[in-house]
Amino acid sequence: MRAEIRPIRWQDNQLLLLDQRRLPAEEIYLELADYRSAGQAITDMVVRGAPAIGITAAYAMVLAIDGAAQQADWQAALAHAAEELRAARPTAVNLAWAIDRQLELACAQSSAAAARAVLLQAAHALLAQDIADNQRMGRYGVEALPEHGGILTHCNTGSLATGGYGTALGVIRAGFAAGRDWQIYADETRPWLQGARLTAWELQKEGIPFSLNVDAAAGHLMATGKIQAVIVGADRIAANGDAANKIGTYSLAVLAHYHQIPFFVAAPLSTVDFAMPEGSEIVIEERAADEVRRCGGQQMSPAEVAVCNPAFDVTPASLIAGIITERGVARAPYTQALARLRP
Ligand code: MRU
Repeated sequence: MRAEIRPIRWQDNQLLLLDQRRLPAEEIYLELADYRSAGQAITDMVVRGAPAIGITAAYAMVLAIDGAAQQADWQAALAHAAEELRAARPTAVNLAWAIDRQLELACAQSSAAAARAVLLQAAHALLAQDIADNQRMGRYGVEALPEHGGILTHCNTGSLATGGYGTALGVIRAGFAAGRDWQIYADETRPWLQGARLTAWELQKEGIPFSLNVDAAAGHLMATGKIQAVIVGADRIAANGDAANKIGTYSLAVLAHYHQIPFFVAAPLSTVDFAMPEGSEIVIEERAADEVRRCGGQQMSPAEVAVCNPAFDVTPASLIAGIITERGVARAPYTQALARLRP
């Protein structure tokens, strides 16, 4: 049996993160013993993907309470650490969602020691629940997608982006397990190359055949009949179904609409921000200029060229054929459909 990819582990009171900056060349786990290093690891994309950074933050709160327990007011110290962690990356709602849940749980305890035990148990439960939810999402997704044909995906939404298994890539895994006759196309996903480095690595490990394509090939692939559905993940879905995901997702949705190809989003309900009415309010992270100027350690542009590097974009709900969750597939109108699925 194939060894499962587990990007987040807890061992000997330390948080272990598979360093995704070094994949596919090296498989190295970083050992983190304090919450600030965990927050920095999220900012630096040692770990990335909305569910994975939520789970990491849940464990980071366990590390935070070790420091907070030394303070006279441990709850205030923990709340301060929570604020720092929340600022690690702005777009994925799973980060704030996991931190808020942990803070509320901790503050309901009468001592720091009791809070630590509860937080650790909750972090383990969140990780296990994420994997189970992804597997359920996979089964719903297989039923929603066409039985045959080309499936295009973007970024990395697999085991590496979650606790394990994956969201959009989880649907692809479930499809292959169910014997679907799919040809998988993976966008390389510039500038960080989540598709080329991470999705390609995962699919190869899984033994799932696929082709890697440059992002700019998507329109051509659709126009020449190679793609019958697009499936992507999400970092934050507004209550009306507008979905923020990796930069380039919106372009894919517009292309899919033009070519009359169904465009699906797969995400757990923890990615739905029910407090946000529409996608225009989603904060889009702008990342460092050198991510665009350089590639694989090589300078690609004149050194000081001005750069625009939004890490995400928002796809309007009107372009989405269905939002695949662990409790079923939401279809338009999304405000009502998502509210019905809300746990
Ligand atoms: O910048 P990243 O790599 O964290 O962006 C990840 C994505 O955009 C994913 O598609 C999204 O988080 C869903 S992961 C299951």
